This record gives sequence, structure tokens and C-alpha cells, in this order.
Amino acid sequence: MKVAMLREFGPVENFEIAEIPTPKPEFKEVLVKVFATSVNPLDYQVRRGDYKNELELPVITGHDVSGEIVELGPGVENFKIGDEVYYTPEIFKGQGSYVQYHCAHESIIGIKPKNISHLEAATLPLAAGTAWEMLVTRAQLKINQSILIHGGAGGVGIPTIQIAKAMGGVVYTTARKVHHEFLLELGADYVIDYENENYIDAIQQMTDNQGVDIIIDTIGGNTLSDSGKILSQLGQVVTLVDIEKPQNLIEAWGKNATYHFVFTRQNRNKLDELTKLVESKKLKPILNKVFSLAEIGEAHRLLETKGDDENFYGKIGIDIE
Ligand SMILES: NC(=O)c1ccc[n+]([C@@H]2O[C@H](COP(=O)([O-])OP(=O)(O)OC[C@H]3O[C@@H](n4cnc5c(N)ncnc54)[C@H](OP(=O)(O)O)[C@@H]3O)[C@@H](O)[C@H]2O)c1
Repeated sequence: MKVAMLREFGPVENFEIAEIPTPKPEFKEVLVKVFATSVNPLDYQVRRGDYKNELELPVITGHDVSGEIVELGPGVENFKIGDEVYYTPEIFKGQGSYVQYHCAHESIIGIKPKNISHLEAATLPLAAGTAWEMLVTRAQLKINQSILIHGGAGGVGIPTIQIAKAMGGVVYTTARKVHHEFLLELGADYVIDYENENYIDAIQQMTDNQGVDIIIDTIGGNTLSDSGKILSQLGQVVTLVDIEKPQNLIEAWGKNATYHFVFTRQNRNKLDELTKLVESKKLKPILNKVFSLAEIGEAHRLLETKGDDENFYGKIGIDIE
């Protein structure tokens, strides 16, 4: 089968389209013919070598699969050949999704929503799965709670806004001005221009100095320590991003805050819930651009640097022939 492989970590030119044997499903695993995958920051972080201590070369990255089951390993109980499925591969235990065929344990795959294409479905497992983990599993957002979602126009921000609205939250988000109209249409209640406004002052003004109940940090840096300034009493902060330097969280004590540190975990249950949201049209994938597997380097360049399109938002799909 054809794969996009890295024999060395580094620039996008390091991707090589190679032929390797198609894997055989082991106990409780299924073999999936991959129709589509997508690109996430985690993929360019892997490519650059940010995880070189955890991964052995050659590496095949990729964190989203949408495809069809073509073979069952021994002991599979919940799926049959022909089922259309989607999931996030466990690349720290095996292969990623930049492949024509992929083996996965049945406990981490879900039935793909029927009303969207494989390319659209491949935009969801990592990004929307992370949104589910943050909002439902960890913060447990309740109706009418207020939530600030940083980076609303990003791969994670887009499903997080939609799921938070489906759960009845009041959504504040940050984005460059060029994305505001799109985000308001998507369902955000208030959008703050992070380039030209101080988001801390804006939240204080909009909430009458009460702050928000939940903050979703997809940015890192000072966002973690500054969050305490605009949290309501007993508020929660959920962060996805590594902390590069020591943080002073003194403000958090005054707010009796709870901090959640999230690294997405795979499971079928959350994919089943995402499928229900997509089929009831409460969650829609925003697929903005599609590349072939041979163009994977170009897809990475676009996500990492925004290429020649600095107004880009939404997800990048990879069509696997
Ligand atoms: N821990 C986990 O399990 C996990 C899972 C998924 C993702 N992540 C991490 O979460 C982060 C976001 O992922 P993603 O897929 O959403 O990335 P993405 O698609 O590249 O989006 C990043 C977004 O951040 C916005 N942004 C940049 N600087 C900002 C600022 N100062 N204030 C507000 N928004 C800002 C960008 O908006 P503009 O385009 O307008 O500049 C862009 O929309 C990445 O670091 C990723 O590695 C972690």
C-alpha cells in the first residue's frame, strides 16, 4: 500500500510517498480502507520532531481516518465488513492515517455520519473529538453557562463553538476580524478581534465584570495565567497546549478555579455522540481545501504557515485514492 512516510524529522520536503506491506488486523482489530484523512497541528509538530523522543523513525503521522472496513481480525464483535467508520489512530502505539489501509482496535472507532462525505468526516475525529472531551467529559458545560473559546476559527475552535451551542452555552470567542462574520453565522454569540482588542477588557466589559464560567485555551502562552482574571467564581479553564514556561496562577485562587489539562483520548463513545450531532445537523464540518496524499507537504505548509492564504480557516482534507 501507498503511504506518506518520514524517514527523518524536519521540513515538509521530508515526506516520501513509499510502498509498504498492507497490515493484517490482530485480535479485536479491523482493517480499514482509508478514503480520507486531514491535517492537524499535531501532524506538523510530529513532522518537525517535537515528539522525537516518543516516536521511532520511520514515522507515519496522521490523526484522522474516514474509510470502510474491509477485513475483521479475530474477536471483533461490534463491526462488520462494509461498515463506514471514522476515528483517530493511536500513533504513539502504531501507524498514523497517511496510508491507504489502516488497522485499529474496535474500541476506538465509530460509525461515520451518513449525511457527510468521507472527506468531511475526516475533519472531525481529532478536532471535534477534542472539543467533546473538553466540553462534555471535562468541563461538563451546563445550559446558559458562559464560555470563552480562544481561536474560534481554528480546527478545534470551530467544532468547540458548535458543540458548546448545542449544549446551551453562551459563547464568546476570539478571532481576527476577517473571520467574525463566519463565526457569528456558525453560532458564536460574541466575537472579539484578538489583534485589535484586549480580550480581557472586552470580556470584563461584556460580562459586567462577572467573567465567564469556562475558558477553552487553544493558544498557550499567557492565556493560562491571564484566564484567572476573567473567570467567574468556581470557573474552569481547559487547556490543550503545552506550557512553555513557568506560569503564575495566583489569580486562580481568588476564583476557586479548576484547571483541566487535556490530551485527547480515543474512544468509540464520543465518536457515536459526534455522529448523532452531525446527523441532527448541530455539528457541521468546515472543509476548506483538499489535497492528494502526494501533496501532503503542501497541506502541511498551508496549515503551519497559512501559505499564501493568511485568511484561511477551517480544515484541510487529504483525499486518499
Ligand atoms: N491536547 C490535545 O489533545 C490537542 C488536540 C487538538 C489540538 N491541540 C492543539 O490545539 C491548538 C489549536 O489546534 P487547531 O487544530 O485549532 O489549530 P489551527 O487550525 O491551526 O487553528 C489555530 C487558531 O488559533 C488562532 N489564533 C492564533 N493566535 C491567536 C491568538 N493570539 N488569539 C486567538 N486566536 C489565535 C488562529 O486564528 P487566525 O487564523 O485568525 O490567526 C487559528 O484560527 C494547537 O496547538 C494544537 O496542537 C491539542
